[in-house]
Amino acid sequence: MIKETLEKIEQLRDKTLLAIKDSIYVEAVNDIRVKTLGKKGELTTVLKQMGSLAPDERPIIGAKANEVRETVETAILEQTAKLKTLRDEQNIKKETIDVTLPGKRRPLGKSHPLRVVLEDLKDIFRSMGYTVVSGPEIEEVRFVFDMLNTPAGHPARDESDTFYINDDVVLRTQTSSVQIRAMLENKLPIAIISPGRVYRRDEVDATHSPVFHQCEGLVVGKDITFADLKGTLETFMKRLYGNSVRLRFRPHQFPYTEPSAEVDLSCFKCGGNSDTGDSGSAQSGYCSFCKNEGWIEMLGAGVVHPQVLINCGIDPEIYSGFAFGVGLERITMMRYEIDDMRLLYENDIRFLRQF
Ligand code: DAH
Repeated sequence: MIKETLEKIEQLRDKTLLAIKDSIYVEAVNDIRVKTLGKKGELTTVLKQMGSLAPDERPIIGAKANEVRETVETAILEQTAKLKTLRDEQNIKKETIDVTLPGKRRPLGKSHPLRVVLEDLKDIFRSMGYTVVSGPEIEEVRFVFDMLNTPAGHPARDESDTFYINDDVVLRTQTSSVQIRAMLENKLPIAIISPGRVYRRDEVDATHSPVFHQCEGLVVGKDITFADLKGTLETFMKRLYGNSVRLRFRPHQFPYTEPSAEVDLSCFKCGGNSDTGDSGSAQSGYCSFCKNEGWIEMLGAGVVHPQVLINCGIDPEIYSGFAFGVGLERITMMRYEIDDMRLLYENDIRFLRQF
């Protein structure tokens, strides 16, 4: 009986040691431990049966069982350590970074051309001492029209041009409304620009959009004259387009300025030469930019109408001012030689990447 039991224990030891040696996972070794040495393990079961042995046989079997237990435990510890080291080594190999591999490029975004021009414009005017302010796009009729000397019945207020929210509120058709807000709010003197969106009931085409951008400028103080306006706009345009451009002031009519002017820029594409009809000029041929006019209309401007000052509680006997309004799309299209305004809104990445 004792011989059988001893053999059984030895068989169990050999089988277990073999299984441990063959294990390739730490988890498998652990399973063997449970299966052999655990509460219901095979060796434990053998020991539990000791009660059925003769008293003098028990110490022999007990000693053998303990010896086997120790052997198995040692084998488990050794195999576990070996497998862990192996796993660590493999992980290190797997996680090694090959610094010679090419990096993954992250596509970098770019500013929209309208944004670039807007930032330039703000820089230019800030450097001349102007403050950048903004006004609401949903605006009171009195700020867009009435106080700008544009009374009811004036064609500019026509419903076919203006989006009316109700009789007193519109989507502003021009940033000129901010002039009024600035004069009502600010202490004199005033030197502001105000860029922003404006809305008109226009069909979309290459040069029109129901939403576009303007930038308003307003200066009010003592002894401000048309000459200041000319100097300011000249500085502005030269900073934008280079020192060789020339400005032309054409008489015009705006309700809120007197005198008023439309300001043209000499065509920077053909140098303003294509209008001379001079076939000997270096840039002879058709200029699609100025349509051979030699000049490109850029903005509206003028000396602030005394009535507008009065509307804002400013005494026109003491103070005077000038104002201008320029389309941002126009400046942008000129600068980058873009011939269709819709390109600015479609967000076609192939177009935007070019800038
Ligand atoms: N508001 C005009 C427009 O939308 C532009 C303009 C002209 C603004 C003359 C002015 C100005 O401030 O004095 O076309």
